[in-house]
Amino acid sequence: MKIGILTGGGDCPGLNAVIRAIVRKSLQYGWECIGIENGWKGLIEIDTTPLDLNAVSGILQKGGTILGTSRTNPYKIENGEQIVFDNVARLGLHALIAIGGEDTLGVANNLCKAGLKVVGVPKTIDNDLNGTDYTFGFDTAVNIAMDAIDRIHTTAESHKRVMIIEVMGRHAGWIAMHSGIAAGADIILIPEKDIRVNEIISVIYSRLNRGRKFSIIVVAEGAKFSEDEKDEGQFVTQDQKLDAFGHIRLGGVANLLADVIERKTGIETRATILGHIQRGGSPTAFDRVLGTRFGVYAVEMIKMQKFGCMAALKGTDIIDVELDDAVNNLKTVDEKFYDTARVFFN
Ligand code: F6P
Repeated sequence: MKIGILTGGGDCPGLNAVIRAIVRKSLQYGWECIGIENGWKGLIEIDTTPLDLNAVSGILQKGGTILGTSRTNPYKIENGEQIVFDNVARLGLHALIAIGGEDTLGVANNLCKAGLKVVGVPKTIDNDLNGTDYTFGFDTAVNIAMDAIDRIHTTAESHKRVMIIEVMGRHAGWIAMHSGIAAGADIILIPEKDIRVNEIISVIYSRLNRGRKFSIIVVAEGAKFSEDEKDEGQFVTQDQKLDAFGHIRLGGVANLLADVIERKTGIETRATILGHIQRGGSPTAFDRVLGTRFGVYAVEMIKMQKFGCMAALKGTDIIDVELDDAVNNLKTVDEKFYDTARVFFN
């Protein structure tokens, strides 16, 4: 049995733990693994690397992915699907493990429907994939963001400023919610809830009235102003370029919000965009363990011929779910969880 492994989409800490686990478990079965370089791009161009025991030695604690990644979408390339099928045959692959988020696994799902033997492993710092309680990479991102917010807290207090920290989260506010709650943010703004400037200002003033002269706001990059405050801006984009999956680059809502708050309150306000720092460096123990469990289970899924499925965490168990269920709807923050965070918005 020969298995191809690829990592697609934005990288995240824990990818190497998954790759290592897949290779180690495969070797137990006497199977061979090859790495496909740079996501789906490596299957379009036949760019591969052998993955033996030595190749995955010493990578568990390393961030990023030893296989490289890209946002290449075979369905945006002429004849892309056929090229993938031809190259899988040329490489002699019996099955493929795709490690990625909704875009990479969406492609995997389509290829599986067309007849390719593929299983998925859920990866994204955004934690917005359906069907799994957590994706690996998320815990590391949350801890990095929490640490940054803690640090910003002390300077906010010294200068008596409003400090806005922008974290990643295009359509879902999981990083903002977890890092904001963990670091004691005074307001958390997420894509699922429109930004209402007046509510933010009333929290800032209520804190001032009880002698708290600084405020900490955590905002997810995809948060939007409410309809009636539309003139303040919508998605704030760095540029208008779209990637192969049609996503605009975000980044900057914190700057816009800082201007609005300073203009309306006269209080000095500063913005910090954490950006890719959240995706870098060594994975937490949680992500190493989760990635390892997903990797081992992905091989089990191939053994059980559960193609078209994705490894998932449910409670404390690793199970498999249909890729269809995982990629067709995003997992977003619900009202109940937001209400918990809201208790502390004062
Ligand atoms: O999908 C993960 C993610 O980190 C998002 O949170 C973010 O919007 C996006 O990737 C950034 O993508 P890129 O690294 O291509 O700029």
